[in-house]
Amino acid sequence: MANITLQQVNRSFGSVHAVDNISLTIADGEFFTLLGPSGCGKTTLLRMVAGFADLETGEIRFGGRRIDTLPAHRRNTGMVFQNYAIFPNLKVGENVAYGLRARKVPGPKIAERVASALRLVKLAEHGDRWPHQLSGGQLQRVAIARALVIEPEVLLLDEPLSNLDAQLRVEMRGEIRQLQQSLGITAIYVTHDQEEALAISDRIAVMRQGRLEQIGAPDDIYRRPATPFVAEFMGTTNLLMGTLAAQGTRIKVGETEFGVPRLEAPDGTNVSFSLRPEALRPLIDDEASPQGWAVVAAKLTRLEFLGALTRVEASLSHGAPLRAAWLDLPLQRLHTGDLLRFAYDPGRVTVFA
Ligand SMILES: Nc1ncnc2c1ncn2[C@@H]1O[C@H](COP(=O)(O)OP(=O)(O)OP(=O)(O)O)[C@@H](O)[C@H]1O
Ligand SMILES: [Mg+2]
Repeated sequence: MANITLQQVNRSFGSVHAVDNISLTIADGEFFTLLGPSGCGKTTLLRMVAGFADLETGEIRFGGRRIDTLPAHRRNTGMVFQNYAIFPNLKVGENVAYGLRARKVPGPKIAERVASALRLVKLAEHGDRWPHQLSGGQLQRVAIARALVIEPEVLLLDEPLSNLDAQLRVEMRGEIRQLQQSLGITAIYVTHDQEEALAISDRIAVMRQGRLEQIGAPDDIYRRPATPFVAEFMGTTNLLMGTLAAQGTRIKVGETEFGVPRLEAPDGTNVSFSLRPEALRPLIDDEASPQGWAVVAAKLTRLEFLGALTRVEASLSHGAPLRAAWLDLPLQRLHTGDLLRFAYDPGRVTVFA
């Protein structure tokens, strides 16, 4: 097994630069996710690794070996598609056997490997069923077994869970992650669901309009977004604009000042910054803020009780909204229209240059 290197990979369709000069390295055994909005080039990039789409320029290597010049069936990748692409006229076992037959593996060996692939995805008893006799989740497992049965070096998955209902998606993403870990296989996973990406990836590449916006571990991407686009794409946030004040230790947004980690730029500089809702802690009555934290005041406009979590919407002095989210709020002590203080650790603010 080996790492995967993409070097200055490009692909256009007419005037659309679908993949725009992408270079990245994926480590051996890594679960690597391509994440981004619809049309940002995820599928195109994955298909170039699989061999289903040509590169205009650039190179792709598995270890030292250049593979972008090889046909798909010689790249040793297994691919799982969004729509499963299961043959309806073949039984489950035959669907899984398909890639082995194409590779001219001898009969007895095929039976053995199909059985073991079906065991991996917990469908050991289903080899003799027809696809229409399976549920959506089971069909997706067949698709995964079919990709794994050829013992690929790299598993490629393009939005494999998007046709499943929410609860099954959560279950299946855990199973895919577990399977990848136990096999120690390198996986490239495409999704536009940020929570899914955060839940299962070793690293995430956030894409936008064919380009890489940021690559990092889930925690990194969420807590230290490199751009306002990443900050907003990775979940709800307060994205605010203001001017630097107090020797770079505060940002003025309208009349409200936000304490921030000291910045080197001169006062008066325009900056934007992100502060996640869950970083803001409402202070009830005259509750003191924790040592070293900053405080902002905003008028409470809306409370949304969601069980474990309560979402709070407030309005800054010049009318801009401030969103907070908190566990176990004493709701009966909060009233819309109240001026509420919110405390936060200034370290949770991400300032964009
Ligand atoms: N065969 C094609 N012919 C023309 N344009 C294409 C083709 N394939 C992709 N594109 C365009 O390239 C861009 C990237 O498409 P791609 O399918 O890679 O996006 P994606 O990130 O996978 O989106 P989604 O989340 O909707 O699946 C889009 O603008 C798309 O319209
Ligand atoms: Mg796609």
